[in-house]
Amino acid sequence: MTARIDVVSIFPDYLAPLDLSLVGKARQRGLVDIAVHDLRAWTSDRHRTVDDTPFGGGAGMVMRPDVWGQALDAVLDPGGGARPSGRVLLVPTPAGEPFTQRIAEELAGVLADGGQIAVACGRYEGIDSRVTEHYAAHQDVQVREVSIGDYVLNGGEVAALVVIEAVVRLLPGVLGNAASVVEESHGADGLLEHPSYTQPPVWRGLEVPEILRSGDHGRIADWRRERAVERTARVRPDLLAAHPATVRAARKGDAEVLADLAAATFRLACPPDMSEEDMAAYVREHLTLERFRGYLRDKHRWLLLAEVAGAVVGYTMSIAGEPVDPEIAAAVPTRPTAELSKFYVRAALHRSGAASALMDATLATARERGLPGIWLGVHGQNERAKRFYRKHGFARLGGRTFTVGSRRESDDVMYRTL
Ligand code: ADE
Repeated sequence: MTARIDVVSIFPDYLAPLDLSLVGKARQRGLVDIAVHDLRAWTSDRHRTVDDTPFGGGAGMVMRPDVWGQALDAVLDPGGGARPSGRVLLVPTPAGEPFTQRIAEELAGVLADGGQIAVACGRYEGIDSRVTEHYAAHQDVQVREVSIGDYVLNGGEVAALVVIEAVVRLLPGVLGNAASVVEESHGADGLLEHPSYTQPPVWRGLEVPEILRSGDHGRIADWRRERAVERTARVRPDLLAAHPATVRAARKGDAEVLADLAAATFRLACPPDMSEEDMAAYVREHLTLERFRGYLRDKHRWLLLAEVAGAVVGYTMSIAGEPVDPEIAAAVPTRPTAELSKFYVRAALHRSGAASALMDATLATARERGLPGIWLGVHGQNERAKRFYRKHGFARLGGRTFTVGSRRESDDVMYRTL
């Protein structure tokens, strides 16, 4: 049986866009049968009245249940048995449950099985509440009241267009490329989509990221996943609750990921007035692929990676051994000791739990190695980092100065016992 959608509204013309684009084509190709009905066809008075004043008083008008009952009985034919598959009465309302991609998938499932969705578009202050109550009591009708967002429209028609478009594009055969449904925002992995680019490669001075033109499909997939996680963290951090950060030891094959991440995050710990040239020079000289390859081979070092939804978002590097700086060596109260030498998390992920997960795993590894204490240097002006380290049990031990590019900088040295 063909999937069927009925829309009932006092403004049927509002739904004319259902003839256009993908939904229009799906109708023409017989993938879905959509009918739009004028609610006033089921009125019985001379004025074709659909509403009345609310019981209990208050502003506005409420749509009458008797008119809606006639219309929905005709459209849904409840209990008539003409349509054995699922039937859904969908009522767009700002008081409904938030409409999501998961609900769109459920509704597409009902339609794909030859079911029916009847959309009741209310106007004014909505439809008399007995209407949903009555149809919800029907065993073969599922009532869903949905809101398309936390704002108020003049009626349900625009919301009906939104819901129908979101559902119909999921029906088998409607989209040419089924993979595009999987990869898009709010797809199976619950992330927002990565940014996309096409020709030309340079437009108004803006370049398409080099990696997308590299032809290296593995690195492109990693890059897209990282950008998707970053965008989700920035715009919709609530969606990341489903993706808690995990930490693992870095492996030999991670040198490239580490060097990329180090280059992208180095600036986060730099003093605010440091020049781009000095930062770039430091990255070029000290955060190279070769360096990280060497670090990964060094048995006195341990490098940990934090991942969120399969994207690497942060890393730490710790070193077991005597501090090189004699002043620090003299100040550190326990022997042997370890240095937490690098601790970086992508800026967008700073409140994702990745940093705490990395810190916990770093300290746990130091304990496993039998190290009684761990120290670190943090830029004196980096209040956010210092607060984080204090929260994780570090206290100030002293200071040190060092050079980045052409500048002398001063660090706080912090320490904690394990
Ligand atoms: N009708 C009026 N406002 C609405 C909204 N935000 N969502 C769904 N239906 C509505």
